[in-house]
Amino acid sequence: KEVGQELRTGYHFQPPKHWINDPNGPMYYKGLYHLFYQYNPKGAVWGNIIWAHSVSTDLIDWVALEPGIYPSKPFDINGCWSGSATILPNGVPVIMYTGIDPNERQVQNVAYPANLSDPFLRKWVKPDYNPIINPDRGINASAFRDPTTAWYGPDGHWRLVVGSKENMRGIAVLYRSRDFRRWIRAHHSLHAGFTGMWECPDFFPVAVAGGRRHHQSGVDTAELRDSTVAAEVKYVLKVSLDATRYEYYTIGWYDHSKDRYTPDLAFPDNDYGLRYDYGDFYASKSFYDPVKKRRVLWGWANESDTVPDDRQKGWAGIQAIPRKIFLSRGGRQLIQWPVEEIKSLRAKHVNVSDKAVKGGEYFKVGGFKSVQSDVEAAFMIKNLEKAEKFDMAWRTDAQGLCKKLNSHVKGGVGPFGLWLLASDDLKERTAVFFRVFKKNDTSYVVLMCNDPTRSSFESQIYRPTFAGFVNIDIAKTKKIALRTLIDHSVVESFGAGGKTCILTRVYPKKAVGDNAHLFVFNNGESDIKLTNLRAWEMKTPTMNKRLGQ
Ligand code: FRU
Repeated sequence: KEVGQELRTGYHFQPPKHWINDPNGPMYYKGLYHLFYQYNPKGAVWGNIIWAHSVSTDLIDWVALEPGIYPSKPFDINGCWSGSATILPNGVPVIMYTGIDPNERQVQNVAYPANLSDPFLRKWVKPDYNPIINPDRGINASAFRDPTTAWYGPDGHWRLVVGSKENMRGIAVLYRSRDFRRWIRAHHSLHAGFTGMWECPDFFPVAVAGGRRHHQSGVDTAELRDSTVAAEVKYVLKVSLDATRYEYYTIGWYDHSKDRYTPDLAFPDNDYGLRYDYGDFYASKSFYDPVKKRRVLWGWANESDTVPDDRQKGWAGIQAIPRKIFLSRGGRQLIQWPVEEIKSLRAKHVNVSDKAVKGGEYFKVGGFKSVQSDVEAAFMIKNLEKAEKFDMAWRTDAQGLCKKLNSHVKGGVGPFGLWLLASDDLKERTAVFFRVFKKNDTSYVVLMCNDPTRSSFESQIYRPTFAGFVNIDIAKTKKIALRTLIDHSVVESFGAGGKTCILTRVYPKKAVGDNAHLFVFNNGESDIKLTNLRAWEMKTPTMNKRLGQ
């Protein structure tokens, strides 16, 4: 048996072999969802980057097509890097991507389908007038990439942003065009911040609660030319910070006539904004799905094992389960939830209800195979007054707090949650859990944490604890929900119905296949009650078979 193959994912998007990174140009066209992604056709490390291409009717089963975009012209001869798709008003999709030219400059190019009647969009044509956006007038040619989906303003001009930096300042450089061919840089950027290079910007509208449209419904970027729609939405600007390898977003207002984006102030967790995911999730991109009228988010999760391990496995990188995203009722954050289609993979299931778990207790959830599963649990807290005191210095450092008070450190209320991908003797296990702190007499802070420090016997692996705060009023709800998608080496968790998400990669040696188990634990002083746990084995969909295979 080849090394590491037992850690390949079953239902997370992954090609049969080699390296993948960012999702590119996701879109829906003529009955098919398209996903392109950064791919090295020659190996399991980054390099030789092209756009690989897959299609699906349901975001679950995927068929691999021939590469969509690959180096073929001077303007992309050294690589075809990330970019986005825009559906033009006449229904024609256009891809804009970053090409690496013969001088290693990053330039922006367009490509059009060769045959619009082919729903597979197999062949893409790159007009000779490329590149259409050059790093001129003071732009740093080695930090100028990842164009967004374009949107159409009330003045009849297209806009898009390209990620860049000037010294330590990350910039969303704004361009306008009348014809999608001649692009002119605006006098000011859409937004900027002192956080280093902004990779993979994403800018999109979200519905607000109380408007005519349900707040969970998506808003198509294309609808923005309608000013009545534009008045009833807020905007999200997301950037991927090369410096930290994390993504941050802000929610704000966008003034169409001035092309100014102003983020709301007072974000709860830190200066950069909020995180989509507090774990391993990067270079994400959203698209509007016209079939289900929702906005769907794709994000890349890198491996966290070693490069020699990746070479030996022959593969590296997966895409997270596509998530429906929408603004929370209060408008302070986004909510993310696995697309409903993945429920079609649910098979054999087990159920536990109303089970008390005393402080220090744990039990195994048997009777099903958890190595490739979907687990939903709800925990009720008995004695909130036992919560440990919260130190306000921790407010901006959930991750540090989780490292210090990891799952082995006994607490007041929590840590409680799941041990998963666990060996029977519990020597290998990954913990996903909550811990509740008392801020003052009436308010509490809830921490959600992923602790992989005991996830593998393998010692070379990078396994930081990952954590985020959960914005819920636990004194009122007394209850918190957790959903975790387990997939061999992926642990993708959604706390409190999608308010806080954490994806991690783990590499157990012993807790693989049928030897991977699921436990519920409570390492706090306060008793908790598992009000309900439902767990399903997940079937394996068709994952990137070649068409006709
Ligand atoms: C993000 C990124 C992008 C770039 C691509 C290259 O992961 O660095 O900025 O376009 O990957 O593969």
